[in-house]
Amino acid sequence: MSKLHHSRVPAWLDFTQSATGLLLALFIVGHIVFEASILLGPDAMEKMTLFFEGYYLFGERHPGIVGAMAAGVFALFIVHAFLAMRKIPSTWRQYRAFRDHMARFRHEDTALWMVQVVTGFAMFFLGSVHLYTMMTEPQKIGPYLSAQRVVEGWLWPLYLLLLFCVVLHAFVGLYRLAMKWGWFEGKNYRRSRKVMKNLMRLGIVAYLLLGLASLGTYVGIGLDLPEEVAVEAAP
Ligand code: HEM
Repeated sequence: MSKLHHSRVPAWLDFTQSATGLLLALFIVGHIVFEASILLGPDAMEKMTLFFEGYYLFGERHPGIVGAMAAGVFALFIVHAFLAMRKIPSTWRQYRAFRDHMARFRHEDTALWMVQVVTGFAMFFLGSVHLYTMMTEPQKIGPYLSAQRVVEGWLWPLYLLLLFCVVLHAFVGLYRLAMKWGWFEGKNYRRSRKVMKNLMRLGIVAYLLLGLASLGTYVGIGLDLPEEVAVEAAP
């Protein structure tokens, strides 16, 4: 084992943290849009569900595909959380030292890092509950079964919190990734930083609105379930 080999490990861990974060953020960018199909009505959400279950490919439903996807996302989620966790104590100490030292400076990037720590911590719990359900009961996804889970299963408060956490975390994360790896930097660093920050804000607002509208729609459907679904759910 050479010294060189050792010195490469942190860089590799850092890269893996960025890569898993990027994949998860892109997943969420898609997830919230697909899920917003409920805004077009129960039929649109039903078609979306059938699509992800491979119905249009195999001619029958395979919810196991969705369960396997959830397991894959869960694995990424765990690796990403583990790698991020390793940085919290040292960066926290630096933050404290920094804050004590320069109390009057407002350091935006440190503030954004704090957003990541707080929302990331909450998602250890909130995200796990959701992913575990999707992994073990993928056959219970659909406009009415999902709405039923949201209302009768009391998932709506969890989704409300999770929505705020994941939207902030994903867009702040994408912004930080772009800054860290110098994507889209262009000639003028300060200008591109400003553009990226505005894109981040736009993404946060747009996705929160979309997610809130979808969640509201699920609640509406769940409060007024069709007879068949309500009967099925009765004890
Ligand atoms: C393959 C993995 C996933 C699948 C199949 C999935 C599927 C779904 C479905 C079907 C719903 C509608 C409600 C329900 O049926 O209970 C939903 C809602 C939601 N999911 Fe996921 N999800 C996955 C991963 C994630 C992850 C990783 C996150 C964030 C960490 C997330 C965040 C949310 C949020 C916040 C809502 C509520 C949406 C809203 O407010 O409009 N999901 N998900």
